[in-house]
Amino acid sequence: MTFIKMADYDIYIEKNMLNQLPKMIEKIYADRKLFVVTDQHLFDLYHERLTDILKDYSVQYVVIKPGEKSKSFDTYQLVIETLIEKGIKRSDLIVAFGGGVVGDLTGFVAATLYRGIPFIQVPTSLLAMVDSSIGGKVGIDLAYGKNLVGAFYQPKMVVIDPELLKSLPLRDYRNGLAEMIKAGLIGDKHLYHYLLEHDEVGEQEISQSICVKRELVLLDPYDKKERMLLNFGHTFGHAIEKKHRYETYLHGEAISYGMLIALEIGKSLGETKDELYEEVKALLIKRGLVKEPLLHMDDYKDAIIHDKKMLSDGLHFVIVDKPGNAKIKVLRLEDLS
Ligand SMILES: NC(=O)c1ccc[n+]([C@@H]2O[C@H](COP(=O)([O-])OP(=O)(O)OC[C@H]3O[C@@H](n4cnc5c(N)ncnc54)[C@H](O)[C@@H]3O)[C@@H](O)[C@H]2O)c1
Repeated sequence: MTFIKMADYDIYIEKNMLNQLPKMIEKIYADRKLFVVTDQHLFDLYHERLTDILKDYSVQYVVIKPGEKSKSFDTYQLVIETLIEKGIKRSDLIVAFGGGVVGDLTGFVAATLYRGIPFIQVPTSLLAMVDSSIGGKVGIDLAYGKNLVGAFYQPKMVVIDPELLKSLPLRDYRNGLAEMIKAGLIGDKHLYHYLLEHDEVGEQEISQSICVKRELVLLDPYDKKERMLLNFGHTFGHAIEKKHRYETYLHGEAISYGMLIALEIGKSLGETKDELYEEVKALLIKRGLVKEPLLHMDDYKDAIIHDKKMLSDGLHFVIVDKPGNAKIKVLRLEDLS
């Protein structure tokens, strides 16, 4: 079993960890009442197994529709009201069992209902395992944009079972792989080199990827400075997602194009070698994350002007000069060409 310590909670990773959920829960919670929030796909796939594993608990399920549209005020209200109707108390435990949508929404419910209820994350998608369940950002989307309402609220524990990835559709799996490639590029060259050769990841690689995020989150829990390195590929990635109304590209696909644009900018600044750009491009094409012809930065520059990383002194932009090494450069819009 891999064990990773965060400031306020622990992360446990092991194959078939789901079977050990009661033992894990006992570490932080003495009561027998659980409220599991999940989406319909996961409920259909895992409801019977969860019921069996959690047989010594009284479990109430709240099931939301799968997909980003559920990170909304309407679903937030629905989940809160359902939990209240099912009799949740402030000292009860909520379990977020799902991908990033379930985790972000449930975390925000837990942060706000009765001004805070303990919750744990059991991430089921690769993206949720390596990214969204770690770092305490929870929230929902508005019509104006994604993740505009939210909080920093830490889970009591994160329990990761890589076996759950077996049922994850390939496109969603690759979506998480993009964040792992990013983690390797900004902070772990060994992880990056592994991902160059292998499509399949397990306990070790998930842990390596989390550790890249962990280091930055511990330095900068409220996302004011160092954590910005995690945004490698995200400045243009967000612009791409937004321009295509979050319909054409999954987040991992959009940031994959964004990473290539960032590497191109690194090249034009004389920081990034052409070979690295070509290597990452070949990797992202092989993993089905980008296709040629690639998206071009000129088509997304207008959206960059409104990016929150555009500060008065210029755009704070993450570049990678060699695998495992990222830095922030302050750019003017004229530099983007
Ligand atoms: N909080 C953060 O720091 C943070 C970081 C990155 C992303 N996010 C958020 O994460 C969300 C995306 O997360 P996601 O990619 O996991 O999307 P998701 O939660 O929508 O899951 C993707 C799909 O996979 C299905 N699924 C998940 N696990 C499965 C499994 N084991 N077997 C079968 N199907 C499974 C889901 O039902 C869904 O249909 C976005 O809302 C994004 O904003 C948050």
